[in-house]
Formats: sequence, structure tokens, C-alpha cells
Amino acid sequence: MGFLNTILLFLKNLLFVYLNLCVVFISIAQEIDEIENIIEKLSIEEKIALCHAQSKFSSSGVPRLGIPELWMSDGPHGIRAEMNWDDWNYANWTNDYVTAFPALTCLAATFNPDLSLEYGTSLGEEARYRNKDVLLGPGVNIYRTPLNGRNFEYMGEDPYLSSKMVVPYIKGVQQNGVAACVKHFALNNQEKWRNHINVQVSDRALHEIYLPAFKAAVIEGKAWAIMGAYNKFRGQHCCHNKILLKNILKDLWRFDGVVVSDWGGTHSTIESIYNGLDIEMGTPSDKNISHRYPYQNNFLGKPFLEKIISGKVDDTVLNDKVRRILRLMFRTSLNKTRPFGSINNSKHYKTAYNIASEGIVLLKNSESLLPLNKFKKIKIAVIGENAKKAMSVGGGSSELKTDKEISPFSGIKKEFNNANVVYARGYSSNNDNSHELINKAVSVARDADVVLFVGGLNKNAFQDSEAEDRKQFELPYGQIKLLKEISKYNKNIAVILISGNAVKTDWKSDVKAIFQAWYLGSEAGNVIGDVLSGEINPSGKLPFSFPEHLKDNGAHHYGEKSYPGIDGSQFYKEDILVGYRWHDTKNIKPSYGFGHGLSYTTFELLDFQIDKKKYDPKETIKVSCKVKNIGDVDGKEVVQVYIGKKNSKIKRAKKELKGFKKVFVSSDNSIEVNINIDIKELAYYDEKSASWKVEKGNYIIYVGNSSRNISGEIEITIV
Ligand code: BGC
Repeated sequence: MGFLNTILLFLKNLLFVYLNLCVVFISIAQEIDEIENIIEKLSIEEKIALCHAQSKFSSSGVPRLGIPELWMSDGPHGIRAEMNWDDWNYANWTNDYVTAFPALTCLAATFNPDLSLEYGTSLGEEARYRNKDVLLGPGVNIYRTPLNGRNFEYMGEDPYLSSKMVVPYIKGVQQNGVAACVKHFALNNQEKWRNHINVQVSDRALHEIYLPAFKAAVIEGKAWAIMGAYNKFRGQHCCHNKILLKNILKDLWRFDGVVVSDWGGTHSTIESIYNGLDIEMGTPSDKNISHRYPYQNNFLGKPFLEKIISGKVDDTVLNDKVRRILRLMFRTSLNKTRPFGSINNSKHYKTAYNIASEGIVLLKNSESLLPLNKFKKIKIAVIGENAKKAMSVGGGSSELKTDKEISPFSGIKKEFNNANVVYARGYSSNNDNSHELINKAVSVARDADVVLFVGGLNKNAFQDSEAEDRKQFELPYGQIKLLKEISKYNKNIAVILISGNAVKTDWKSDVKAIFQAWYLGSEAGNVIGDVLSGEINPSGKLPFSFPEHLKDNGAHHYGEKSYPGIDGSQFYKEDILVGYRWHDTKNIKPSYGFGHGLSYTTFELLDFQIDKKKYDPKETIKVSCKVKNIGDVDGKEVVQVYIGKKNSKIKRAKKELKGFKKVFVSSDNSIEVNINIDIKELAYYDEKSASWKVEKGNYIIYVGNSSRNISGEIEITIV
């Protein structure tokens, strides 16, 4: 009887799966039919209108057929305020306040893909509530140089980490019937000269370093849209680059979504027609057209129309674009079953809090200065402009309008309400860097028990901001001088670095503690206060290296021709050795390495094992180890698995991240961690055959809690 029941249950489940599949297939078939029916009904003019902007952030629908417009919005960290129809000014609506989520560098630093799903889900809900169909994010350009003004919007220097983090984000956003538009495809690794810099990079570095996160976004995340980049690659602008958009994205990866140009990134009608651009955005409108259709002269407007009408361009190429755009609409604006979304609610603030609390990275904590005892009546001197500066404002297209951004100073005051908390600005980003500011800070620091220095960068031009790169690797605005002065009078200094980029930390021996606090959004101060008091035990890990000197970074090692370029071109001479790959392989010690991040407790990684010693290329390596918390507080640790080839025939990094897992371990306990790595993950990109190859021979598996702190190594052989 029991056996019969099991069989019946199995058949019932099978039938259920079968029926569901039928429903899916039928609806796909119906959608295809509907799309083809619509295409037949559209005039050429109506089709062309779908392929370019109608306003700064929307493209046309087909009013005659009731097909709605597509509404797009920045950006990666929250839904941007409403803009005017045809200029870059804000529209001053009052119903467009949103939750500011932590910047993507912080999300990457959590090393926690579950939080990435939570991030995408909440963000997608806000986008949906605000009636947006396409969210202009996430950004997954690789962190190549610490000077890039937009690194804060991206997910760090490692293609594996960013691939693992981007996929759940996209799924979270898109389950709301809102498309993620992954940007900026590709090689937009600096802002300086972003509109014309011509990037020359090897196929190997392209495929191994710069494309994997985009590939994961398309193939695993099933992103519905991709944004082209401003720069050129091998002489052709990326928004209509044949190699990137046609050969790789559409032909090789079979992307079935829509390619959107970056705003003003389109420069050619013919290249856009043939190389894969579907919607042209941000090309200026024609101010001489009084008609309500001022974008009709864009590259994919009238010039495209004329080519179709004259028969110079076959309409199959137009229909392909229209088909993709309609498919995007069926997934978003024409999707009758999409949820309604929600905004500014406690759940979203909690998401922002959770991500910020797992993203903060404790870089240094000598003499256990942190956490501070919040019950003691101590005197705390908070020094630094960033303690009070709103950071969701500025920085370019990712800026947000939020009515909740707790400043570090408010958070600290609230958390340490038993203490005497005093403030001095110390430095100023407005260049009024007077002695007076320093003197005041010194006098405040002098008789405090502890100094909390809240500095770093900000979202001003030439800092962590779009359109330009940073001008210096060092902390700006005289902060180093200020720190040195303060440290003469007070040794208990904790530095809270607010930035999305590495900075030079040659002042680190003057302070006892440093933590990297990113741009944390709405909950910034609450989280910073909780980390300082120990309510949160830090568990973030650096998603990029902090070099000691700028020239220690691979891109900068080769001088101007590598960064920022000469005569309009640059050569990525460090090739595949980006970030920690460079530091490890060339034996150049960073100030703080990729994957580094301390905790208020101490973890030990023990009993590192693998399931066998010899593997076939189709197999999976099963890595296990034990994480033991030998301290007195609970905490989370990230086990990181790196792999390197011994005596490789080709150029290789010493080791590369191939697996990681974040686990919670309570004090005095241990937990077993299992990480599986498919051997195919060890493949390199062979330029000659344009394919991925796994080299046979010996490899070393390294297990640790940072690229610079390896607890165990085991050799394996691939046969
Ligand atoms: C940025 C994009 C952004 C777009 C729209 C461009 O300048 O590069 O990332 O989505 O503007 O604001």
C-alpha cells in the first residue's frame, strides 16, 4: 500500500509539473503569436518610434494600439527622483521619495548572495511602485583602478564574486515585472574621457575578467536589458560595437532582451542598425522641432526610417529590434500579472540595514579599540565632514531623493546616549581649509576618550562621482594632515572611511582602528553606530584591494598608456592580472588585500579537506573545512577558496577566487562548510581557438578568509 501511495504521489507530482510546463509553453507560444500579430499591424513609423527615446527617460509605445510607453529610471541603489520630460533637471514631484539602499560596493562586500536577492527584490518593488519598467542597473564594470569615479556603483575587482552577486539581484528585480538593465557593457572602467577613450585589451582579459559578470547576468540571471557603454572598444563605440553586442552578446550568449544605449552614447545610424543597438536613449532632442516629437532626428529615428523606406536597409533588422522591444514590454509594461510594488516601508529599510550591516569591513582593530562600551560615560569626539554629510545626494545618475538618511553623527549620538558626544568638522570639502578647523578638532580630540574620525571621499566632482576620475589616491581635503595632528594628542582613533574606492592608507599606523563604511544609504548612521557599539559584529570583506601606492596597482604600473591612455587610446597592459591577481602574482603586498575583513571575534579555519586527489575535467571538487569561533561573541565568517595552476604553460594569476561561503558561527562553536567547484570553472580562455580550455596537471587549492590569509593548501591533479 505504502509503495502504491508513493507511486501515485510521484505520478501526481509529475502531472503537476507537466501541466505547469504546458501552461508556460502555451503562454510563451501565445506571446510569440501576439508579438508577431502586433508587428504585422505596425506601420514603419510606429516601429521606428519604438527604437529611440521620446523623453529623457522614456521611449514611445503605440498609442493607436494601446501599447504603453516604456519608462526607465536610474539606478543601481534606489529609484531616482522624477526628471523633467526633456532636460536633466528634477521635476520636483513630492511623491518620489525612496529608500536609499547601500551602494553596490557594499553589497559586494557582504559576500552574501542571499542579501543580493533581498536587495533586488526590495529595489524592484520600489521601481514597480514608481511605475518604472526598466531599472538602469546593476553596474558590473570591473574595478581596475582606484581612481575610477564610478567604482562605488560596481561590485569590485573579481569576476567570480561579481557574477555570483549580480545574478540574485537581477532575479529579485525582475520578479516584480521590472527589467534590470545591466550596465555598462563593456570596459567602462574609468570615467576620465569616458565618451571617447578607446580600450585595447586582449581577448583573454576580456573574457576572463571583464565579461563574466555580464555573461552571468545574461545566461544565469536572464537579464531583460543591457546598457551599452560610452567608451570605444577596438575603435568602435560600445553602444554599437559589433564584437560586443552582435558577436558576443546576441550571437554567442543568445541574449533575447533589449540593448539600450547609454545616455548620449550613440554616434552612428548604420552601426546602430547592424551591430545590435535596440533603443537609443539620451541623444539630445532637436530644440527646433516645435512638434511634440522632438527626438525624431536621433540616429535611430528619421535616418533609420529613410534607410528602410528607400530599401537600403532590409526591414528584418528593424523587426528584430521591434520584436525584442515588444518582448521586453510583455515582460514588464504589458505583463498583466505583475505585482503592484511598494515603497519606503519598514521592510525596505530593514533590507538596507541588513546589507549595510554585513557590508561594513573592519580593516584594522589594534588593542581591540572597537567595539566601544556604550554603557560607559565616556567622551567621544566625532571629527570629520562626512559625519554629517548626506551621501545619497551627488555622484551623478545614482543620486537619490530620500527623506531618511541617518547621518553617522546622528547614529553615533543615538547609540551612545550615555556618552558625551562632541563634534568638530576638522576639514572641509569647500576648500575653506583653515587652521581654525584643525585647531578646533585638536581641542575636541585632546580631552576625549576616543576619537571617531569620519572621513574618506564624498560624491563631489572628482571624488566618487560620475563623469570624471579622482585626481589623487590620497585622502583629499587635508585629512591626512588633520589625522596626524589629532594623533599627537589622542591615540585612541578609529577611522570610519566613507568611500566607494580604496585610498592610500599610509597614515594607518597613527590610528588604532579603521573600518570601511562605503555609502550606506538610508540606514547609514544606525549601522555605523551599531558596529561601533558591537551590536553588529562586522563581517564584510573587501571586494577590491587597497594598494599601498598607486603604482602598486596593475593598471597604474604601466603608466599613462595603460591609464588614463594617450591620444585617445589605452592598453590594458596588466592583462588578466587585475586587482589581487596582480598583487599576488607579482608579490606586491597591498595595504589591505581582496577578501580581507576582521571581526570582533576570532575564527579558525580547520580540517580542510577535499573529496579526492585526481579529477576528470567534467567533475566537481568538493571542498570542506571547519570554521571555529574561538572568541566570546557570535559572528559571521566568509570561507574563501582560491585555486592556482602549478607550472602552467600559459600566463596565469597565482590564484583566483573560485568559491566562497558566508556562515554564522556562535561563540565557542564550530560549523562545517562545504563548497563545490566545478572543474570547468578552472578553464582559461584560449585566444587561438576562441574557446575555454581546462589545462591538465597540478593545481593548488587555497582556503582562507582573505586572499592574504590562507589557512590551508592542498594539491590536486586534473587528468
Ligand atoms: C550614465 C548611466 C545612466 C544614464 C541615465 C548616464 O550618464 O552613464 O549609468 O543610467 O546616464 O541617467
